[in-house]
Amino acid sequence: MTPRSLAQTLGSVVGDDHVLVDDDLRRGFETDWTGRWSGPSALVVRPGATHEVAEVLIRCAAAGVDVIPQAGNTGLVGGSVPRAGDQARRPAVVLSLRRLNAIADVDAAAMQLTAGAGTTIADWQAAARAVGLDTPIDFAARDSATVGGAIATNAGGSRVLRYGTMRQQVVGIEAVLADGRVVGSLTGLPKETVGLHWPSILAGSEGTLAIVTAARLRLVPHFDHVVTAMISTPTVGAAIELAGRLRRRVTSLDAIEIIQPEALRLVAAHLGRTPPIGVADDATVLLVECADHADPTDELLAELDGPGVTATAVATDAPHRVALVAFRDRLTEAINAASVDTGTPPFKLDVAVPLGAVEPLLDLAGDAARSDGCTLIAFGHLAEGNLHLNHLGVRDPDALADRVLRGVADLGGTISAEHGVGVAKTGWMHLVRTDDDLAAQAAIKSALDPLGMLNPGVLRAHDRRRSTAAGQVP
Ligand code: LAC
Ligand code: ZN
Repeated sequence: MTPRSLAQTLGSVVGDDHVLVDDDLRRGFETDWTGRWSGPSALVVRPGATHEVAEVLIRCAAAGVDVIPQAGNTGLVGGSVPRAGDQARRPAVVLSLRRLNAIADVDAAAMQLTAGAGTTIADWQAAARAVGLDTPIDFAARDSATVGGAIATNAGGSRVLRYGTMRQQVVGIEAVLADGRVVGSLTGLPKETVGLHWPSILAGSEGTLAIVTAARLRLVPHFDHVVTAMISTPTVGAAIELAGRLRRRVTSLDAIEIIQPEALRLVAAHLGRTPPIGVADDATVLLVECADHADPTDELLAELDGPGVTATAVATDAPHRVALVAFRDRLTEAINAASVDTGTPPFKLDVAVPLGAVEPLLDLAGDAARSDGCTLIAFGHLAEGNLHLNHLGVRDPDALADRVLRGVADLGGTISAEHGVGVAKTGWMHLVRTDDDLAAQAAIKSALDPLGMLNPGVLRAHDRRRSTAAGQVP
């Protein structure tokens, strides 16, 4: 099928205005927000309803084109932009879900609402707050990242210690299979056990099994009283001990974010501000947040008044809290800005290890960065042992990733905590999954998407070392 007739057939489904063919219009959909991942698309198609998604998939299957689902395009592992070079076996269309952004059936008593896949996290939050509730998920990219993308990657963010990851927030789902059939249910019954559970199957499947079009999502109480504290601890071990104490004793605890001194310096320079506490080079900084119906400040401060805390800055009113949280929320933006000077996009690894292995992980990541000659900017979500290892000016990203991810696996950790595998980490899946496990996952993929047209290449495991030895996949 020619590009022109593909545009025509998809235009007859979604309306010609929602088929983007021109280079200028497609460009923003073809590159991720770090600039590291990029590939060409035949066109971008923007359906406005579930039945349109189904018809688009049927026509793409008939035309022999692959489909790359995308919504907020805030992914960091190359999973939501087209594949480049040899990885693109066939022409691909970007299926943008941004128009599926309706919010419906807000039920304050059941503490649930239904959101289209293209609803941003911020809009989910606003709808929850309009009825005195809140979202169990929150992260820095909230204004662009969407519900569908968060489900696809099983996103986490800062409130996971209190509410769990995105997977646990999905009480119902609607999704379109590759052949156009619609599966799932949006009724949101908290107890419902009739066979397989589509939210569980699709959360974390990264657009490879079906296209999520809507979800029934959990809401949580809204707390009027929030306190945020930036804390300096002398060592990683002291930070972990404090985190444990806070988790055991402070029931209003919402977040424990870890920021390494280098990361704090970088974001401070980006913001043009001085951090509110002095931080030694070997210190570990935590950003802790508590939220409750009554002011939790005293409850938090009582736990901070002890050994293992060298400095604390506390904010209880909104303007001061926003100013403090900026040191955390704007880290990714600061890293992107700093990478411009290095001439290469930042190289990111999102990993998690058992808490006892956080310190060895930071040591090994530091060694790996030094060997490469790049700068390591580390931060993350301490309670889950989840670190975002960002590298500026990296020389050999593949070798660096190989060293760090093998180290992570040896420490009992995982190669992806909350950003997904995308195309970035397919070569290391075998470090944390057995061959039998991966074969079973591939069988599920073939059953649901026999043509392999949904997000090809993503989550497609291969043993990088064995393949390289056989001279196949670099
Ligand atoms: C964060 C994203 C990068 O934690 O996961 O800010
Ligand atoms: Zn994160």
